[in-house]
Amino acid sequence: MKARQITKGVYWVGAQDWHRRLFDALIPLPDGTSYNAYLVQGQNQTALIDTVDQSMAGELLAKLEDVSALDYLIANHAEQDHSGLIPALLAKFPQATLLTSAKGKELIREHLDVPELRIRVVSDGDTLALGGKTLEFIYTPWVHWPETMCTYLREDRLLMSCDFFGSHLATSDLYVTDQGRVYEAAKRYYAEIMMPFRTVIQKNLEKLKPYAIERIAPSHGPIYDHPQFIVEAYREWVADTPRNEVVLPYISMHGSTELMAHRLVAALVDRGVRVTPFNLAVTDLGKLAIALVEAATLVLGTPTVNTIPHPNICYATHLVNALRPKLKFAAIIGSYGWNTRVSEQIAGMIPNVKAEVLATVFCRGLPQAATFQELDNLAEKIAGKHRELNLS
Ligand code: FEO
Repeated sequence: MKARQITKGVYWVGAQDWHRRLFDALIPLPDGTSYNAYLVQGQNQTALIDTVDQSMAGELLAKLEDVSALDYLIANHAEQDHSGLIPALLAKFPQATLLTSAKGKELIREHLDVPELRIRVVSDGDTLALGGKTLEFIYTPWVHWPETMCTYLREDRLLMSCDFFGSHLATSDLYVTDQGRVYEAAKRYYAEIMMPFRTVIQKNLEKLKPYAIERIAPSHGPIYDHPQFIVEAYREWVADTPRNEVVLPYISMHGSTELMAHRLVAALVDRGVRVTPFNLAVTDLGKLAIALVEAATLVLGTPTVNTIPHPNICYATHLVNALRPKLKFAAIIGSYGWNTRVSEQIAGMIPNVKAEVLATVFCRGLPQAATFQELDNLAEKIAGKHRELNLS
């Protein structure tokens, strides 16, 4: 694949990683991903914005074959999937200077061992004139590392946003052609990567408001030529008010907890509450993360294994705690054989989530009529709380 032109003098020179299925040894990638890098050629000088993952070195280097001189290498983000080729490119272009944020310099020095003399720190709002192409550096911290920034190309109204607005999606489309598909991939990306920094992202979105942006070129997934689509989606995802939705991750060993989960799902639906159950024996955790983006209530369902929660529920609970969704309410349901201490243990695993615990519903062995009544009561309570907040 050759370099692909975006506007005059501006090219996509990234790589598609079609078959990657896991990121950070944690995040499922059902649709692969891409590492986008952008070459900006001014009348006088040339800059490359971000690089690619080291595994894709050949893809980027092939696209730069005809570039005889590179003056600047710009690192919007120090994480290795974008910074991995910095040492190789600084060696290939010995006159190039690496530009990055102050924190970016620190991280790149630590992670990639780049010599200090090759790095120049740019401040928030600094500009770089390449000759008919002016780059402005906009600090956008915590999307999703402390050093992250965007690079804005003024003449072309092009925002190169790195991970911000990205989607893990390998595609031959340079631009978004299927908004539904990209929405799902971008929401998955937001859920897994950005959600813990929701309140900082609110500020970053406000900061970008004054900029005239015709295209957003992220470092993962296709370019947005109708950027309002993804900006509006982000506004909804980071909003403080959740939706009238319940997320119900559960696991069942002999069917009792599953019976309880099914009853609660039915009772919630009957009361006009949207609910998504996730059987953790077969769940794509990315789907669970997506559901957490806008849910108001989390209900965890677990059997008791030797007095403790099932390990799959412990894993999901740790994930929820790490992702810090905007949950308002929580509950725990499940069954046990002879004794249980599950509620206290789960509560201790989730200190980052400041949700009001509405109930715990446990039964010994198979759920009976009294348990089903308790679950109906829980559904009534959840519906009532959602109504009080006027959730839609
Ligand atoms: Fe795509 Fe934070 O790296």
